[in-house]
Amino acid sequence: MELNILKFPHKHLVEVESTNAFLIDYIAKITPVDGFCVFSDFQTAGKGQYGRTWDSERSKNILASFVFNTTWLKEKEIFFLHQISSLAVQSIVKKYLPFQSVKIKWPNDILVNIKKIAGILIQNVFRGQQLIWSIIGIGLNVNQNKFGSDLNATSLILESEKNYDLNEILTELHKELMTFFEVKKKNHDFDLLDDYNQELFGLNESLNFQKVDGELFIGRLLAVDELGQIKIEIDNQLLTYNWSEVRLIRH
Ligand code: BTN
Repeated sequence: MELNILKFPHKHLVEVESTNAFLIDYIAKITPVDGFCVFSDFQTAGKGQYGRTWDSERSKNILASFVFNTTWLKEKEIFFLHQISSLAVQSIVKKYLPFQSVKIKWPNDILVNIKKIAGILIQNVFRGQQLIWSIIGIGLNVNQNKFGSDLNATSLILESEKNYDLNEILTELHKELMTFFEVKKKNHDFDLLDDYNQELFGLNESLNFQKVDGELFIGRLLAVDELGQIKIEIDNQLLTYNWSEVRLIRH
């Protein structure tokens, strides 16, 4: 990647354990501006949600983390971070794949034709009870054309047979995230929950879920609420779970 093409504050690393972990250490030493981005060509220990790993071929994909000062964000608004990051990534994927089904899988995976194209890992840094920094780590599969068959993954190149400029995509991601944050900072009532819900994979459909204790069940996905909890109908009963209790699993 060419460094000087990017017009926003960033740090490029040829290789790093994890851009999220790097950024968390970095903010202990310097005070970054909102939207400061660390991106890398390769991660040796990329982190996923639920303690999973995130693997990506060298120089093929977006591996980036953006940091925002979120002192002003109330704790009950934290799910807003998941809404904006999912919607930002989804809109970019949709722009390049206008004729495909691009959906958000709760809480924040992006699927193209039910295959995962992007994952997002949000990590919040608190000082005592006070939220100070939010790190939005994005792994978006762009120019990689082979994935393990167990992964059910895809990429922009696999879906369109075109190569993409990673700098351009990174710039678009930065722009989208900055815009959402600026609007929310000025107006706390700015809410994207309806947009998020509209873009949800499996909305109103019967889906397979798994509880943390391993129990599997089927339920109809009704909506996600402002705290990020999922509302599921099971045998005419409405149940609410947060993402540490239940996972949406593949069909
Ligand atoms: C997931 O789907 O489980 C989330 C994956 C998030 C991966 C990205 S890649 C850039 C950033 N750095 C990390 O270590 N993880 C995130």
